[in-house]
Amino acid sequence: MSSLEDKIEKLSQLIIDSKNIVILTGAGMSTESGIPDFRSPDTGLWNKVDPEKYATIHSYVANPGRNLKMMLDLGTKIFRAKPNKGHKAITKLQKMGKLIGVLTQNVDGLHQKARTQNVVELHGTVNEAKCMRCKRVFPITEMINQVMKGAMNPSCGICFGLLKPNAIFFGEPLESEKLMKADEMIAKCDLLIVLGSSLLVYPVAFYPRKALSLGAKLAIINIQETDLDDDAEVVIHKKIGDTLPKIIELVEKRINA
Ligand SMILES: NC(=O)c1ccc[n+]([C@@H]2O[C@H](COP(=O)([O-])OP(=O)(O)OC[C@H]3O[C@@H](n4cnc5c(N)ncnc54)[C@H](O)[C@@H]3O)[C@@H](O)[C@H]2O)c1
Ligand SMILES: [Zn+2]
Repeated sequence: MSSLEDKIEKLSQLIIDSKNIVILTGAGMSTESGIPDFRSPDTGLWNKVDPEKYATIHSYVANPGRNLKMMLDLGTKIFRAKPNKGHKAITKLQKMGKLIGVLTQNVDGLHQKARTQNVVELHGTVNEAKCMRCKRVFPITEMINQVMKGAMNPSCGICFGLLKPNAIFFGEPLESEKLMKADEMIAKCDLLIVLGSSLLVYPVAFYPRKALSLGAKLAIINIQETDLDDDAEVVIHKKIGDTLPKIIELVEKRINA
């Protein structure tokens, strides 16, 4: 088994040898910014709440008030969060001209706050609210202000439909334009780097498989093992913030040498 240094070295070289890199991020990307993920042992949100009760679209429509408390707790953490060393390292890689863009499952907007370009938010964003009837999109403050005043069924100011955070709940389809953009990026990429995803949530977990089938190489940085570890050129079971900045620094040094 190779050492961490060997793996850092190997992933740096893979990046140097690649022209069209795509990064796929999951909730593990943002844990170092203070936002809990879903599936980490002990700290993951699924240890505390039942997803069937709180994260399906049916449960929200049936009882918005019950869901809103948990959402406000997570939302408060998200609105206060700042991009971490990992998000910043991705922006640095993009400035080197090698990164096509980022496909993210995260709804926190931290890639954009770190000034990464071409970010596809496959699961939407909690920085916006959406009317379930007329589909208009509002800043999330529109919804939060109503909830803070005690409204348990926050509603659209235009058509009075129920507002929801503009993030994908379990049981909702992903937006087709975003899926098309992701498909294009996957078709173009020669290296896909997965950062902080259990690769258990579909359809996003198909992307690494699709990239592999189209001839791209795969690299993974994730604390826990994933089902695709055996298919990757490099797998690093460490924190993103402790490894990715070192990898990108090494790439920068070699490119400028
Ligand atoms: N920040 C967010 O926007 C946020 C937070 C919670 C959940 N979600 C949503 O939850 C769903 C969960 O799927 P998922 O695959 O994204 O997350 P997940 O919770 O299923 O898996 C996260 C993975 O990240 C790893 N991890 C945690 N911290 C890490 C770190 N610092 N460095 C490296 N690895 C780390 C864990 O070992 C775990 O395997 C997604 O659909 C996402 O939309 C988003
Ligand atoms: Zn409306």
